[in-house]
Amino acid sequence: MAYFNLKQIQELEHLYKINLINSCSGFKSANLIGTKSTKGQENVAVFSSVTHIGSNPPLLGFFCRPTTVTRHTYDNIKNTGVYTINHINLDNFEDAHHTSAKYDQSISEFDMTGLESEYKDNCKAPFVKGAPIQLEMKFVEEYLIKANNTILVIGEIQGLHINGDLLQDDGFINLSKANIAAINGLDGYTIPRLEKRLEYQRPRK
Ligand SMILES: Cc1cc2nc3c(=O)[nH]c(=O)nc-3n(C[C@H](O)[C@H](O)[C@H](O)COP(=O)(O)O)c2cc1C
Repeated sequence: MAYFNLKQIQELEHLYKINLINSCSGFKSANLIGTKSTKGQENVAVFSSVTHIGSNPPLLGFFCRPTTVTRHTYDNIKNTGVYTINHINLDNFEDAHHTSAKYDQSISEFDMTGLESEYKDNCKAPFVKGAPIQLEMKFVEEYLIKANNTILVIGEIQGLHINGDLLQDDGFINLSKANIAAINGLDGYTIPRLEKRLEYQRPRK
């Protein structure tokens, strides 16, 4: 087995280190966050840190990199209070990945990729058309992570759109059925297959 202690990790070449550390937490969710500026400029960007915070109230969080450079997604969320989360799948992961390019705020990633925006339910932020799962989010609160100046952005689900037959009778969403992607590291995309659902576990006697 390969082994790295903290000192060795700290001394690794930059790209090697970010590939290594971005891979070692396991597969990550693959989402596009859609926002709009107060001036009406659309923005969409890929995020691999969207995660479940709690079900009641229904909260999701994501981590925003340090705001030492302008972060359009973060600025738009703070200025408007709304955003969308759209699952990436087999059909759009290459376009989705390109949204990580550092475009000027005046340029919409929707214009530079095959991704299309769509609007529904009076939500001011754009959804990604065709995304199998689309969530309308309202900004709730944020936490500065002092250790590295990233920001945990927490939002409440205001609306949840689920395509076709993904939704099962008990509320489980079968992500595999829509070929929804997961991210390995910083640039690896995979399409996970559901193996099996297991029963609620109780202590063995
Ligand atoms: C696979 C992948 C995952 C990413 N995940 C995040 C993330 O979780 N948080 C973040 O701040 N940036 C993340 N990024 C970087 C943003 O996509 C990138 O900074 C983008 O330009 C942000 O756009 P914005 O300035 O329009 O918000 C990720 C990039 C890639 C390629």
